[in-house]
Amino acid sequence: MKLLITNIGILAGIGHDKRCLRGAEMSQLYTLENAYLYVENGRVAAYGRSEALPKVEEDVLVVDAQGGAVLPSFCDSHTHIVYAGSREGEFVDKIRGLSYAEIAKRGGGILNSADRLHELSEDELYAQAMKRVDEVIRKGTGAIEIKSGYGLNLEDELKMLRVIRRIKETTPLKVVSNFLGAHAVGRAYAGRQSEYVDHIINDMLPAIAKENLADFIDVFCDEGFFTADETRRLLQAGAKYGLRGKIHGEELAVSGGVEVAVECNALSVDHLEAMDDHDIDLLKHSDTMPTALPGTSFFLNMPFAPGRKMIDAGLAMAIASDYNPGSTPSGDMKFAVSLACIKMRLMPAEAINAATINSACAMGLSEDYGSLAVGKVANFYITDPIPSIDFIPYAYTTPIIRRVFLRGEEYVGE
Ligand code: NIG
Ligand code: FE
Repeated sequence: MKLLITNIGILAGIGHDKRCLRGAEMSQLYTLENAYLYVENGRVAAYGRSEALPKVEEDVLVVDAQGGAVLPSFCDSHTHIVYAGSREGEFVDKIRGLSYAEIAKRGGGILNSADRLHELSEDELYAQAMKRVDEVIRKGTGAIEIKSGYGLNLEDELKMLRVIRRIKETTPLKVVSNFLGAHAVGRAYAGRQSEYVDHIINDMLPAIAKENLADFIDVFCDEGFFTADETRRLLQAGAKYGLRGKIHGEELAVSGGVEVAVECNALSVDHLEAMDDHDIDLLKHSDTMPTALPGTSFFLNMPFAPGRKMIDAGLAMAIASDYNPGSTPSGDMKFAVSLACIKMRLMPAEAINAATINSACAMGLSEDYGSLAVGKVANFYITDPIPSIDFIPYAYTTPIIRRVFLRGEEYVGE
């Protein structure tokens, strides 16, 4: 299969073959004006200025971008899109004044989603998740991490992970799977948190590993959830099965999440709304990718992760959506990029890199995804004609994404 995109107004996100970008490198968003992009067998084969367009052979499908921009698909390295129903009742409680932590303490929140998930069959759960998959693909996402964590007992965690595997197998999205048994203490273990941690280690992990259902292990390491010591135990146990950590840390309080992440060489530590200068120092000497979830701060009306400060300190940084029914019912990565600019003071180029190449790194996928380097998977979108790349976060609700290509083929959906 050969595909040629012609008449591209701005081709952005080229190069950057593998690396994660740190500090000042994050402002390097390489672009070409008046360009073409050539794809062979689902991978980027060449790009260049339109004047240099090679002679087009007969077996090449030609798509005219009509002056629009072409960018690498977003990589969303933190989502919980497999869930049952919705939680707009809690949204209204929050408007009335309850905090996310208070709702969780009353037995709502994550446990509310676990109750609903328990009632759904695997097929129904898959059907609900696939609507969200279709939605995020149309909004420009090409690679995604999906967590379990609304099962909270062996059977329901397996149900979630099997649904994630089915999404992996049936969509053109690149999917990685993250086991988050330690999202909250399951109802059957109420008041017995350390026994629940033992249950995850002794029963859930071996069963999941046996079916090869997870690529990563996650823990909600925060005040009112799991402690730093429990997180360390869980990450060490996961490592025995070859699962690298990607953890939730420093969202509600400074809770030692960054420290454990760095110590255990986690692939990423996500949230960071409450992180402090000590955390920034720790991350300077590690390969763990700090990941901000600006949609969560927006929806919960909480502080944003100190993105500007992290980049100025020389850190790498990724952005992800956190799409979930409680704290962020949105997988719109373009909106997350706008929020990163408006609320975290990232420059547009930095925010786009954070949502593409660096979020690919945060899934261990930057060899193949996150930029339009020759040899990488041809996941990209075409926009309406736009005056500059800065227009993308500026036009923060304008649906400029017109056509989406995954593995070098146009996505048309059902
Ligand atoms: O990343 N912080 C923990 N977990 C999710 C929210 C899950 C939920 O409320 O359902 C998050 O924000
Ligand atoms: Fe999350």
